[in-house]
Amino acid sequence: MANIAVKITTIKREAREKLSEGRRVTDMREVEGKTAFISGGASGIGRGMARAFANAGMKVMIGDIEQAPMQALVSELRQAGADADCVRVDVTDRDAVMAAADATQARFGKVHVVCNNAGVLVDGRSEKVDMDNWNWVVDVNLWGVVYGFQAFIPRILAHGEGGHVVNTASMAGMVNFRGSGPYNATKFAVVALSETLMEEHKKDNLGVSVLCPGAVNTKIAESGRNRQGRYGGTDDSVNAPMAALLPDAIDPDIVGRQVLEAIRDDQPYIFTDPGLRRHIAERFRRIGLGFDWAESCEALK
Ligand SMILES: NC(=O)c1ccc[n+]([C@@H]2O[C@H](COP(=O)([O-])OP(=O)(O)OC[C@H]3O[C@@H](n4cnc5c(N)ncnc54)[C@H](O)[C@@H]3O)[C@@H](O)[C@H]2O)c1
Repeated sequence: MANIAVKITTIKREAREKLSEGRRVTDMREVEGKTAFISGGASGIGRGMARAFANAGMKVMIGDIEQAPMQALVSELRQAGADADCVRVDVTDRDAVMAAADATQARFGKVHVVCNNAGVLVDGRSEKVDMDNWNWVVDVNLWGVVYGFQAFIPRILAHGEGGHVVNTASMAGMVNFRGSGPYNATKFAVVALSETLMEEHKKDNLGVSVLCPGAVNTKIAESGRNRQGRYGGTDDSVNAPMAALLPDAIDPDIVGRQVLEAIRDDQPYIFTDPGLRRHIAERFRRIGLGFDWAESCEALK
């Protein structure tokens, strides 16, 4: 009898592993009643996620540096019948992110999904961008994501009901766009960390996705509205190259629904623009040429 029980347990476990990737299937097919924390949830892509999650019956905690749009969103979600709340957080402040995780747990009991999404766009060449802006984009886009998963992953693993981490990178984390070195660097770092987390947690009841959007119609071109005093203070200018892309860009609510689908499917890479695949193919072609050269270079002979 004991042998049969062990056999059944093994078969069940094997069924839960994705044969192609050796990954465990997470318990996130059903999201109703589960809780999500979304940084940068007051606007754009984060707001799209909040709407999609709430619509699917999830409890939602918005964490953002901008108080007014955050509260407006909570009112909107509550009016639609959702259980939603918000906490003001500056993701560059590790203690504040930890406090936001405490607040989420105190309010909703358990957290299942964390979306490390807050981000800012700094335009300009790496050698020209001043150090205040360099530090700002690294502190928000990279450290903000790190603090987010440091705060939430242990809590998700502790309750064992399953969960998911969504880190917002960008297509700029897959291919390097000219004139945006500092932004590209942070987004490549987010892809690197996300891929590492995918490997490290593939046997856990925790999915990890990296969101790599193309252009999305948000307020990203007005990122300076949230620049903190220590990085130079608010900047009301609009990033012209980014703003030019926005009229043709995808609606952030669509991206929010796509993220929900990815959580349910435990899909690691989330691309909003399948047509951009060619840029990645071109990058790998050029990298391949580097290996071709290495095979014939004098020093290695
Ligand atoms: N819009 C695009 O085309 C696009 C493309 C690729 C990636 N992204 C990424 O998507 C994410 C969301 O950006 P978006 O396009 O929705 O822009 P957005 O400006 O509309 O939203 C960004 C949100 O982050 C918040 N935020 C900024 N600094 C913060 C801080 N220090 N602490 C907490 N919250 C902070 C803002 O208040 C805002 O609510 C970012 O990481 C961005 O890099 C956007």
